[in-house]
Amino acid sequence: MKAPEPQAPHTVLTDFYTTPEARAGFVNRLFDNTARHYDRVSSLFSFGSDKRYRKMALQAAGLHPGMKLLDVATGTGLVLQAALDMGMPAADLIGIDPSAGMLEENRRLHAVKLIQGVGEHLPFPDASFDFISMGYALRHVADLGVLFAEFRRVLKPGGRILILEISRPKSRLAFFLMKIYMGKLVPFFTGIFTGQREVARLMEYYWATIAECVPPDTILAAIRAAGFQDVRRKITGGILSDYTAVNGAAPTAPVR
Ligand SMILES: C[S@@+](CC[C@H](N)C(=O)[O-])C[C@H]1O[C@@H](n2cnc3c(N)ncnc32)[C@H](O)[C@@H]1O
Repeated sequence: MKAPEPQAPHTVLTDFYTTPEARAGFVNRLFDNTARHYDRVSSLFSFGSDKRYRKMALQAAGLHPGMKLLDVATGTGLVLQAALDMGMPAADLIGIDPSAGMLEENRRLHAVKLIQGVGEHLPFPDASFDFISMGYALRHVADLGVLFAEFRRVLKPGGRILILEISRPKSRLAFFLMKIYMGKLVPFFTGIFTGQREVARLMEYYWATIAECVPPDTILAAIRAAGFQDVRRKITGGILSDYTAVNGAAPTAPVR
């Protein structure tokens, strides 16, 4: 049978890297080099709402103590921190991320098990987790279909996913205003604030991936195609997308 076409979240962004193969290395270096500034920058450009938002989204998606949580693209651990703030025991949380620099920051701040790796190849047995979170990283994976199939494989039946993303606004005026804010002002001021050109570059890339990302309907269709049920998108402020879904059944029945 022919393998399905890869579903990249965006096309090659030639202002930043030149070939599809170069993308992951570029992204990794970018996060490695900016990791120690990430939390301050996140707070700055979200006007301090970033931590509260993650916690509210986890609660609304049904996370509660007693569940085993995998935080994919954990970065410096802002989603893990929100789960800890909800009273989740650290022993029930695991984070995974490819960036050694982001993981180093995360380790400094949280006593949670952290693993280096990507969302498309999760080093866990089938049906290991009750809940998978992924904060603001969907745009960085190689293939949405492979990612969601992995999510479903490592989730227990009835397990849930929460994917937080920023989507491009629908109206042309809102898109234009967001382009000025996220594409120009945020890179300029975060560069000045941190004194690091690389942080400005991170924020320029952040905006480019939002502007070029496949539409929310494509993301919803990819989640459904992986076999998830009750697939939803909650939109806040026209740009914050919380994707949720439930693993209705085990992905593969064991053959005996
Ligand atoms: C914008 S940060 C988000 C960090 C954190 N989840 C949060 O909510 O703040 C994006 C993270 O995605 C990670 N990442 C990049 N490619 C990835 C992949 N293929 N699989 C999993 N994580 C990836 C980066 O290393 C980075 O830490």
